[in-house]
Order: sequence, then structure tokens, then C-alpha cells
Amino acid sequence: MLSDEQNLAKATTVAGVDALNGVFYGTFPYPWRPESFHFPADPGHGSGFLAQDLGDFVHDRAAPRRIWVAGCGTNQAVFAALTFPDAEVVGSDLSVASLELCASTAATMGLANLTLRHESIFDAGYHDEYDLVICTGVIHHTGDPPRALACLAGALRADGVLELMVYNRFHRIVTSAVQKAIQLLAGGAAQAELATEMRIAEALVGSFRPAALTTQFLGQMQGRPAAMLADTLVQPVEFSYTVESLAALAASCGLEIVAPCPNEHDKAAGRLSWNLTFAAPELVSRYAALDDLTRWQVTNLLLAEASPMLWFYLQPRASRLPRASERQMTEAFLDTVFRRVDARQRFWVQQADGGYALSPRLIAYPPGRRDPAVSQLCEQVDGLRSMRELLGARAADHAFCNQARLLLTTSAFPFLEATHGEWI
Ligand SMILES: C[S@@+](CC[C@H](N)C(=O)[O-])C[C@H]1O[C@@H](n2cnc3c(N)ncnc32)[C@H](O)[C@@H]1O
Repeated sequence: MLSDEQNLAKATTVAGVDALNGVFYGTFPYPWRPESFHFPADPGHGSGFLAQDLGDFVHDRAAPRRIWVAGCGTNQAVFAALTFPDAEVVGSDLSVASLELCASTAATMGLANLTLRHESIFDAGYHDEYDLVICTGVIHHTGDPPRALACLAGALRADGVLELMVYNRFHRIVTSAVQKAIQLLAGGAAQAELATEMRIAEALVGSFRPAALTTQFLGQMQGRPAAMLADTLVQPVEFSYTVESLAALAASCGLEIVAPCPNEHDKAAGRLSWNLTFAAPELVSRYAALDDLTRWQVTNLLLAEASPMLWFYLQPRASRLPRASERQMTEAFLDTVFRRVDARQRFWVQQADGGYALSPRLIAYPPGRRDPAVSQLCEQVDGLRSMRELLGARAADHAFCNQARLLLTTSAFPFLEATHGEWI
């Protein structure tokens, strides 16, 4: 698991790294506060699209009642509490400053379903309590990711789901190189002081000009908030993974990867799909014959820095609800009758004093445009005919159908919802 791309020089003991992270994220709470918090006005929307992300169009999965946002930072637990208003949400973090920001936002909004706790994932000690655990961008910064993941796995109920994001190794090659260079310039990993590292990072961003990938990368940091600069260039510790090493890590904790979690970052970067298309027939058939994990690993290796983030749903191997393969999810999609979502969303807007006020306006939901490749299909949806009926001969084109499922029925593209009880 260890490799030269990783930044582990300060990874001493679990408690030592927790202490470093407490100071680091206490100084630079992550992420910076957004200008607005949007959330669906329909309280069942979050749970419905969570189920659809997992290929469950009949809502076999109960709506989550207890949610843990582990390493919640400044905003994520607020978003979870708004998206799942009928659930009890617990947010925990090492950073007091992040929790204070989160608490003040929650207080402004009068969120009654959010509890915040200052605790490490390693000390939380939850057992068999949560239907949904959300942990993104956290365990790879700890001193012992396998142990952190085991703590998250232990907190899940038998049929619970974990939304996990860890760094994709191919996204971290340049960042890790720059992080290590900064540590050396600051006097070596053991001595490097946070303030010195930040000064060096700022000086590099402002002045490094050789014709190199690192220059391009540092250039993108210009004018960015300090918390982003710190998070990208001055991380105390970071591990990174491939699909294969993440699957092995999950297995060591009794978990399995269920499906990619469509997320806003990949959506913005236009790199959501874990499936490649090939021109050569032999490649098409060999690739299609692979199981999901092997296929996604091939995609990870071939697309490298352009592959999606390692942002997946996981569940206990012993879950009562067996994992559906991507092909099975697409078959279930084809057998489902959908209706178009024509709903509303509400939003809290940041005020001059930094607080938030609920806008009286209700705006259209889902936001954004449909992908042109599936727009016409979406228009044909009538709440009566299944996708298979609508698609006719095209239903045999698995790649297209899988793409349509992703671009029309997931939480990142919530354009269609299953008409409950009309399972064909
Ligand atoms: C990159 S931020 C991600 C924040 C949030 N999950 C998000 O995606 O917006 C990492 C967060 O993990 C927290 N963290 C790191 N190690 C932790 C641990 N052992 N227990 C709890 N939180 C931890 C940090 O304090 C920081 O707030």
C-alpha cells in the first residue's frame, strides 16, 4: 500500500496524526463556507435518490434514520441534515474551529436534527448504530486508514451504507511531490512548522514558473482561499489508493464496494463514468466480460489522472440486501416505470455578517440541464411505460442504458424517480 506518491513522513502514531490534524484543520477549517446551501423541498427526496444511486428502484432500502458524518468539516453535516430532514444526523470532527463554524450555521438555520461531537473516528466507539455513514476526504489523512475504516464499518447497521471518498493515487502524484518539496524546504518533515510551510506554499504559488506540470498545478492555486491552499499543498499526512487497493482495504473491514457515488466534483470535471468505450472489438468484448471491480480498475489505470474520484458506496458483505452489479442495476432501471421530477428546492443565502438567511424563493428542482444524449428519452417518460418499453431495440445497448441510468436517475442527476409499486 505504501508508495512514493504518498505523503507519509509525518505518519507516526494514530494519536500523533490526530493531534497534527486537529491543529491543521483547526487553523484551516475545511471547506470554506459556501455562498448558499441548496436543498430539496421534498423531505423524502434525499432518501429516494440514495436508493436509486444503489440501483434500488423499489425502495427495498428503508430511508436512513440515523446518519453519521465522520470528519464532517465545516459544512457536510449541515448538508446532510438538510437533505435528510427526517433523520437524526451526528457530525464529528477533530477540528474545534470547523465544528464551531458548523454549529453556528446549524443554529442560524434552526436545525433540530443535527448533533455535533468533538471526537476522533478512532475514539467514537459506535457499534451497529447508523443506517448511513458519510466519510469523504478523511481516512486517507489519518495515521491508520484500515483502522479508521474498521471504525466506520463497525458503526454501520447490518443493512447500512457507507459513502466513502479516498484519494485516487493518480490525482495525487503532483500534489504529493509538491507537498514533500515544501516539507523539505521547511526544514524536513519532523521540523516543518505549519506557518513556515504555508509561507513556502504561497511563495511557490506566486513565483514558480519553470515549464513543468507542477507550475501549471501551482498556477491553479492562485487567488484560492487559504484553506484550499493548505488542504492541497501542506497536508500533514495523506495516503492514496486505486480501485484495487481500496477494494482490498474494504474487504479487510468486512465491506464491499457497491457502486460509484455520483458526486458534484466529478460532475463539474466531466469525468463521472467508470466505463470506457473502445473502438477495437476485442477490447470491447474483453472489457465487458470483466467484473465491476476489475473493469473499474482498468479504467482507473488507463484514465489515470482523468479517472473519476474514488468516491463509492460500500456496504457490509453480510448485508441482507445483496450487492447488485452494475449490469443488474441497469436491468432494474430498464424494468422500472419512472416519472419526471418536477419539484422545488429551497436555499439559505450567506449574509453580509457571514450568517445565512432562508430565501423566500423556491427554485426549480432538479437544477441544471439534462445531458443531450438522454434528454429525448427523459421527455418520453410518462409514468406508465417501463424504460425497456420506451427504449425498444435500444434496451439491448447496455452501455447506453447504464449511462442513461447514471444521467437521469441518480442523486447527481435527479431527473427521474421510480413510480413506487409499479415494479414490472
Ligand atoms: C479534507 S477535510 C473533509 C471534510 C468533509 N468530510 C468534507 O468532505 O467536506 C478532512 C476532515 O477530517 C477531519 N479529520 C481528520 N482526521 C480525523 C479523525 N481521526 N477523526 C475525525 N475527523 C478527522 C479533519 O479535521 C477535517 O475536518
